[in-house]
Amino acid sequence: MKQLRVEADHPYSVHIGAGAFELLADSYRSLLDKADRIVVIADERVAELHLPYLLEFLADWDIRVLTVPAGESAKSVETYMACHSFLLSENCSRDSLLLAFGGGATGDVAGFVASTFMRGIPFIQLPTTILAHDSAVGGKTAINHELGKNMIGTFYQPKAVLYDSKLLGTLPPGEVRSGMAEVIKHAFISNEEWLEELLAIRDFNKMTDEDLNRHLEKGIAVKAAIVEEDEFEGGVRKYLNFGHTLAHALEGHLGYGKVTHGEAVVLGMAYALLLSDHDKLDRFIQWSSANGYPLYLLREIQFADLLPYMKKDKKSSRGALNFVLLERTGMPFVEQVQEQRANAAYEKLVLQIGDVI
Ligand SMILES: NC(=O)c1ccc[n+]([C@@H]2O[C@H](COP(=O)([O-])OP(=O)(O)OC[C@H]3O[C@@H](n4cnc5c(N)ncnc54)[C@H](O)[C@@H]3O)[C@@H](O)[C@H]2O)c1
Ligand SMILES: [Zn+2]
Repeated sequence: MKQLRVEADHPYSVHIGAGAFELLADSYRSLLDKADRIVVIADERVAELHLPYLLEFLADWDIRVLTVPAGESAKSVETYMACHSFLLSENCSRDSLLLAFGGGATGDVAGFVASTFMRGIPFIQLPTTILAHDSAVGGKTAINHELGKNMIGTFYQPKAVLYDSKLLGTLPPGEVRSGMAEVIKHAFISNEEWLEELLAIRDFNKMTDEDLNRHLEKGIAVKAAIVEEDEFEGGVRKYLNFGHTLAHALEGHLGYGKVTHGEAVVLGMAYALLLSDHDKLDRFIQWSSANGYPLYLLREIQFADLLPYMKKDKKSSRGALNFVLLERTGMPFVEQVQEQRANAAYEKLVLQIGDVI
């Protein structure tokens, strides 16, 4: 098992590997013993598949479990309130402990609940998706407002992240693609050699558990280093948004849930690579196509459909479009791009994709 330390405002460890939950009754025993109540907030689907497995490691304690809707629909005011109601009805106090069991969506809502219940109680992240290597580290919590995604939330670090890779085997292909998109994003903004290794993958199913764990460790290390430098997103944390300006526009235009987040991010990265004049664009398009990312969507969607969303993007200021681009692999920077150039780049990408798929 691997351990990484995140030196945030409140430092904590991330443990990655098969059997990471064993640490609940080991290194984290005193944290659990100290709690007057222990509540698991679990994604419904994850609970169906894996709750008995988790509870085996928690046999020494009296555990209450609340399931929340699977995936993104959990990030609602209703679920947020339902969590608080549950905690109150279970007589939880400031000495209670929350365990967030699920993907990024569950982690985001459960983290937000932990940060606000009685002004904040401790919580542990138990991520169950590949994408959550990203979301479980860094302390951003959120729910969605009908006017925008992640509009209500806090910065609040967990006490620990236990990433038990045994659970990743049940992820559907779209979720594997989604998570691997953020993995390769972390490579693009940090490390050429690792990027090359990832670009050689033509079928995610052929990755061994060891390979996947190693990629997750590397991704977490990149994320943790950036969070340590810029916990509250004043500077370098923006680089984590590589590929995200277009991705958010695609998600907004298509309606959330049509494509997974990471699938949209891959399209956004292809676009950012073109704007960056990056020499790996062709290979990245081939990689995306081989691994089943929906590049064809770019042929179906007009730039004009995406523009309003990009103008509204949190990173865009006063209507200008801001993109995270790459000077080269490992050297991200933010550039303001004029509408006309952005449009031309989009058309060029559509043509380039047409040659491949
Ligand atoms: N806080 C952050 O810094 C941060 C960073 C990136 C993304 N996010 C958020 O993360 C969310 C996306 O997270 P996600 O991609 O992990 O998806 P998710 O939590 O929405 O889960 C996706 C689907 O996979 C299912 N699932 C989860 N684990 C499974 C398993 N082991 N086996 C089978 N099915 C499983 C879920 O039930 C759900 O249907 C978004 O809401 C995004 O905003 C947050
Ligand atoms: Zn993302």
